[in-house]
Amino acid sequence: MSQRGEEDMFIRRTQPQQPPSQQAVKDEKTDKKESPPAVPSDGKEQAAQPSSEGSFLKRILREEFQWEDDRPIGDRPKLSREERALILKLRGKVHSRVIADFERGFARGIDMRNTEQVRPLVERVCTEISEQEAVALTAKLRQVLIQEVLDEINGFGPLEAFLSDPTITEVMVNSKDRIFYERGGRIYLSDQQFDSDEHILKIIDRIMSPLGRPVNERTPLQDGRLPDGSRVNVIIPPLALKGPSITVRKFFRRKLTIEDLIRFGSLTEKMAIFLWAAVRARLNILVSGGTGSGKTVMLNVLSNFIPPWERLVTCEDAAELQLYHENWVALESRPPNIEGEGAIPIRELVRNALRMRPDRIIIGECRGPEALDMIQAMNTGHDGSMSTLHSNSPRDTIYRLETMMMMVPGMQLPQQAIARQIASAVDLIVHLSRLSDGSRKTVSITEVQGLEKEVVLLQEIYAFEQKGLDSQGKVIGRHVCTGFRPHAADKIKEQGIEIPEDLFVPG
Ligand SMILES: Nc1ncnc2c1ncn2[C@@H]1O[C@H](COP(=O)(O)OP(=O)(O)O)[C@@H](O)[C@H]1O
Ligand SMILES: [Mg+2]
Repeated sequence: MSQRGEEDMFIRRTQPQQPPSQQAVKDEKTDKKESPPAVPSDGKEQAAQPSSEGSFLKRILREEFQWEDDRPIGDRPKLSREERALILKLRGKVHSRVIADFERGFARGIDMRNTEQVRPLVERVCTEISEQEAVALTAKLRQVLIQEVLDEINGFGPLEAFLSDPTITEVMVNSKDRIFYERGGRIYLSDQQFDSDEHILKIIDRIMSPLGRPVNERTPLQDGRLPDGSRVNVIIPPLALKGPSITVRKFFRRKLTIEDLIRFGSLTEKMAIFLWAAVRARLNILVSGGTGSGKTVMLNVLSNFIPPWERLVTCEDAAELQLYHENWVALESRPPNIEGEGAIPIRELVRNALRMRPDRIIIGECRGPEALDMIQAMNTGHDGSMSTLHSNSPRDTIYRLETMMMMVPGMQLPQQAIARQIASAVDLIVHLSRLSDGSRKTVSITEVQGLEKEVVLLQEIYAFEQKGLDSQGKVIGRHVCTGFRPHAADKIKEQGIEIPEDLFVPG
């Protein structure tokens, strides 16, 4: 069943805007469900009589949106379906023969870990195998084949090209023949493939074994990191139904800076100045948003607004932050071992951080009980602390924080007490969103103004107003200032920090 579902997903609509009648004919050809081959006249009838509502409904129910990417991956040309099939046919054979030659001592003196030394051997075997299989390879395909075999020997196999292309930000393996990648905020299906599930498992093993985190039936899901710092998540059957699945979030040596974010239109210069002043004035800030909305990047940017002489302690599940501070202690939590023991959660790191004489504590992400420790730290003199949190809106950020604090084992805090602690601890919520066109925006900067009855009072200072989409699907909209002067402005002034007069003036 899953097979069929997949097939359907990738039927390409080349001209989605064609008239309904043609559309119906095309559906009849491409959709196996509705084209019983024995009765050809069926299709004609369908094509002849769709009412306009009927075809509209049909269209919206079947709509698939598949972005096409013509750019190569790294220096690899894009392959057609036939070309890919040819490479798949030969790749495994060439690879096995190279390994066999090596093991039989035919490659004496060659260091297999040195790509340039192995290359002549791979080239020779490529020639042999393509002759043996009676395939004439074009120069382009031969090049691809050689490169992919080298990736297999010394890299992460089919993942290698994606990893070496700096314009690609994520790689997602859903199954052996469904490798997706993200580029410029959009997700594309690639022509690259693994040979089999075993092949994916082999590459997983190559990633995880050196980390001492093997993936097997007992631990079928695991996080890890590539040598370059990219984050990897792996989950295998029986938990993953379509085969072993890998997700790589790539690491970039150069972190995005505040100038980048302004240039991309993620936020305005005014918003950036306000955030800078807020960090300098030691306000407590939460960065919230969905997965991949840019929270960690924002936290990194904000952390780099902290004066260079301050002492920072960061607590993260997977170390991602990159700060310029000399006096910076980076802590990383530890997952449990195979026996399920020895875990050191973020919460323990935060508690320890409090004893390290930090000027600021930065928590990579609040997901659970550490929220309580963070809020208490913010309320007990550790001003200027920051963290990120997964949420759908600034209000939702507060709800989630409340829930996390309520669920701390052994602490039965009443809701009102929790709300009061949050209201007095948190100063600002910077809420981010990944919009439909893939762009990441700061969609709200909201101030926590206090408590009214049991409700935390929020006041938005900056917002993003989305007007619609242009013909390319790009979001049209602009950042606006709501015109409210935040209480934070006084705090900023008290600290002797100067900010432009018009920072909170709309327009
Ligand atoms: N404002 C931005 N513009 C463009 N890309 C961004 C922006 N913010 C983040 N990114 C990219 O988006 C991806 C996810 O960002 P990240 O901060 O890790 O998200 P989160 O922590 O919310 O899951 C990264 O590849 C990052 O480089
Ligand atoms: Mg993150």
